[in-house]
Amino acid sequence: MSGLFGDASARAAGRAGRVVSLRVARSERAPSILAGGLITCRAAVSSAELAAQQDIRHAVFVAEQAVFQESDHDAHDDDSEVIHLLGRYAGDLAGAVRLFPLDHAEGLWQGDRLCVLRPYRVHGVGAPLVRCAVATAGAHGGTRMVAHIQAPNVAFFVHLGWHAEGDAELYVGLPHQRMSIDLPSPDVGARTMRELSAGIRH
Ligand SMILES: CC(C)(COP(=O)(O)OP(=O)(O)OC[C@H]1O[C@@H](n2cnc3c(N)ncnc32)[C@H](O)[C@@H]1OP(=O)(O)O)[C@@H](O)C(=O)NCCC(=O)NCCS
Repeated sequence: MSGLFGDASARAAGRAGRVVSLRVARSERAPSILAGGLITCRAAVSSAELAAQQDIRHAVFVAEQAVFQESDHDAHDDDSEVIHLLGRYAGDLAGAVRLFPLDHAEGLWQGDRLCVLRPYRVHGVGAPLVRCAVATAGAHGGTRMVAHIQAPNVAFFVHLGWHAEGDAELYVGLPHQRMSIDLPSPDVGARTMRELSAGIRH
């Protein structure tokens, strides 16, 4: 179990949130996981939060899935327009997603690097992270968001109102599906951001 999460997710929890051990099975976890804890999604702002979102991504995409060998950091992370969102479960850092504009004139945004640490999955963190990314892009005046979705997660995105575009594709060597969704107006997006920042329960 420890090999799956490694030091990265322990650091993620320690840097910008309550320090918890992520190296235990869900059945051994704190009652907060089982008790329908408050789920919040907010932009990562502080250097600790920005480091935490990178650590969560590393725990999932490098240590667990081996989609990337050393690091999943790329040029978008250095783009001043990128927005990183962090999801918390009962105060614990639990997931992340990032978004950035692809084409301002067309209002086109991309969302990617959606991930939830394994002990927190299917507890309602991933869906609000996606909704928060959509709301945030809408609040910034975007009109449509695209994403390259791993094949096993297509149904999850369809459930959230996304549509497949074109045929399946290979992306970072894995089967993916390009999908998209229309974005809400800035007002509606901003309202959803406020709701998700205040917190919801699954
Ligand atoms: C995909 C992922 C982000 C989902 O996060 P999560 O926190 O488990 O999702 P949620 O708990 O919010 O799920 C919401 C609902 O979708 C369902 N769901 C979750 N993953 C699903 C999937 N892959 N396919 C279909 N349904 C799914 C949940 O059961 C839940 O249903 P419910 O509302 O009826 O209870 C998470 O599994 C993950 O991080 N996976 C590894 C990294 C990854 O694959 N990233 C995506 C790259 S495209």
